[in-house]
Amino acid sequence: MKLLITGAGGQLGKEWIDFCKDHSVSYNSFSSNELDITDEDKVAKVIADVAPDVLINCAAYTKVDEAEDNKQTALKINAESVKKLTNICNRNNVKLVHYSTDYVFAGNKSDKENSPEGYKEEDSTDPVNAYGHSKLKGEEAIKDSGCKFLLLRVSWLCGQYGHNFVKTMLRLGAERNELNVVNDQFGSPTFADQVVEQTFELLQQNKIGTYHLSSGGMTTWFDFSKEIFKQKGINVKVNPVSSADFPTKAKRPFFSKLSTQKISNVDGILILDWKAGLQRLLKQL
Ligand SMILES: NC(=O)c1ccc[n+]([C@@H]2O[C@H](COP(=O)([O-])OP(=O)(O)OC[C@H]3O[C@@H](n4cnc5c(N)ncnc54)[C@H](OP(=O)(O)O)[C@@H]3O)[C@@H](O)[C@H]2O)c1
Repeated sequence: MKLLITGAGGQLGKEWIDFCKDHSVSYNSFSSNELDITDEDKVAKVIADVAPDVLINCAAYTKVDEAEDNKQTALKINAESVKKLTNICNRNNVKLVHYSTDYVFAGNKSDKENSPEGYKEEDSTDPVNAYGHSKLKGEEAIKDSGCKFLLLRVSWLCGQYGHNFVKTMLRLGAERNELNVVNDQFGSPTFADQVVEQTFELLQQNKIGTYHLSSGGMTTWFDFSKEIFKQKGINVKVNPVSSADFPTKAKRPFFSKLSTQKISNVDGILILDWKAGLQRLLKQL
């Protein structure tokens, strides 16, 4: 199986490169300045030259707050370009792997005590911010395209590369004695190394369609930060605050736990609880 990875300089893209090297998987990778996915002609040429079996699209506009002021750019990268990728994949008989987000959901699914399993793949979407809207448009383009695809939603993505909550907390924990962290948004982290392993397993089993990839269990950003400091033995006082006390340009869903029921039924895939996933990540940092 030959892979072509776009957005290879990002958090997930770099994790994919590590995986391919470690597992002797044949791949070609392109960072944003080597291949801009908005450039349809260039993407078409690269796909024709490389002739991959699978296009792993890790390229995305991921700046959630900035997307509120840059809606057109977010749509161009997260939706219009994705539509173009589906056309190119169709023409070249290439399977498309694309990543989406828990932010396609409104976050008001029932109440969290009665719905601890979270959002299922088929639940209705209704994003509360521009980033989520652009990612949903990308999902719709894929589903309407008729191409062979794996559409994988992840939430609160954290890995050894790029910017993420775990790395931010470790930096702030080294700089400050006290932190305020939001305690009214519920979800579950997805760890980048597991995303790659599980995606590869799905590919090997010829699976197609939509899956949620996330950890078992549920937490808040506040409890997540406390667990990071506990596991790392960092002594910092963490104060729980509400989203209202911590205003951001883009609204966030209050509940965006992704159900792992469907993915956990796939042979060979083991879902780790988020605390175990964190332990694995902290060993890499
Ligand atoms: N991070 C999260 O918490 C999270 C949560 C849910 C879902 N996701 C989804 O998971 C996927 C991977 O996210 P990530 O955390 O790895 O994001 P990331 O670290 O921001 O990486 C995205 C990469 O895409 C590149 N890119 C942007 N515009 C491009 C373009 N026009 N052509 C080619 N490349 C372009 C970026 O390059 P530059 O840096 O040069 O712009 C960056 O290297 C995305 O689909 C994202 O929507 C992420």
